[in-house]
Amino acid sequence: MTRTHIVALGGSLLRPEEAEKRQQWLGQLRQLIVHVEGNGGKLGIVVGGGLPAREGIELAKNIISDSEKLDEVGIAATRLNATILQQIFLDIGCNVAPSIPTTTGEASKLIDSYSIVVMGGTTPGHTTDAVAIALARDCGARNCVIATNVDYVYDKDPREHDDANPMFDISIDRLAEITGTEPLSPGQSAVVDPVAVGWARDASIDIAVLDGRDISLLDNALEGKEFSGTLIRSV
Ligand code: UTP
Repeated sequence: MTRTHIVALGGSLLRPEEAEKRQQWLGQLRQLIVHVEGNGGKLGIVVGGGLPAREGIELAKNIISDSEKLDEVGIAATRLNATILQQIFLDIGCNVAPSIPTTTGEASKLIDSYSIVVMGGTTPGHTTDAVAIALARDCGARNCVIATNVDYVYDKDPREHDDANPMFDISIDRLAEITGTEPLSPGQSAVVDPVAVGWARDASIDIAVLDGRDISLLDNALEGKEFSGTLIRSV
């Protein structure tokens, strides 16, 4: 049976500070896609909004207070980033879905016909982490990789606590204790979106959180090899 992998790709990964690193990272991601496709695998990529989402939400926030409307601004940014990756993969002749699906149901149908499907957000009230979990559920995948810009989930916020410890293998309930279960406000960030944590628990989906700045970690996780990062078990 063809293996379907689902990856949430943090939007910040698309735009490292140094321009040189951007090209390098995109090149390595492109190689990974070719590799997955070459091995007969299928890949659903859910891309975050990163800088354009933050900028757009900040700009609109001065005028709009309705959080659903601000979320729509964020969703538009995630689809911009999804389109950038989709076009890059199309350009090298990968078997990529030609549209950016707006629901996980639509995306899971596209995965039946294409090797690669790239999408962004869906509806207000969560981030693309939650979309990736929903896509894993809809595709019948048992796990989901969250590639972000931190190396591990820590027991407390490492930006505020010098004594924060990385965690390697934890239960979904432990993750829920750390993230809470309340939805984030538009543009707010957390190591894993609390809504995603709840959905993963409901659908019994394991999560791998890893540092997506290093594409080799993502490669290892997709190949089922050992990887540096935090494994979160739902069952
Ligand atoms: P992201 O998924 O990019 O948030 O959505 P993030 O994970 O915090 O940031 P990255 O991964 O570093 O890019 C950006 C914003 O878009 C809205 C929310 O307001 C979110 O904060 N959004 C996104 C939705 O409302 N629904 C979605 O399905 C996706």
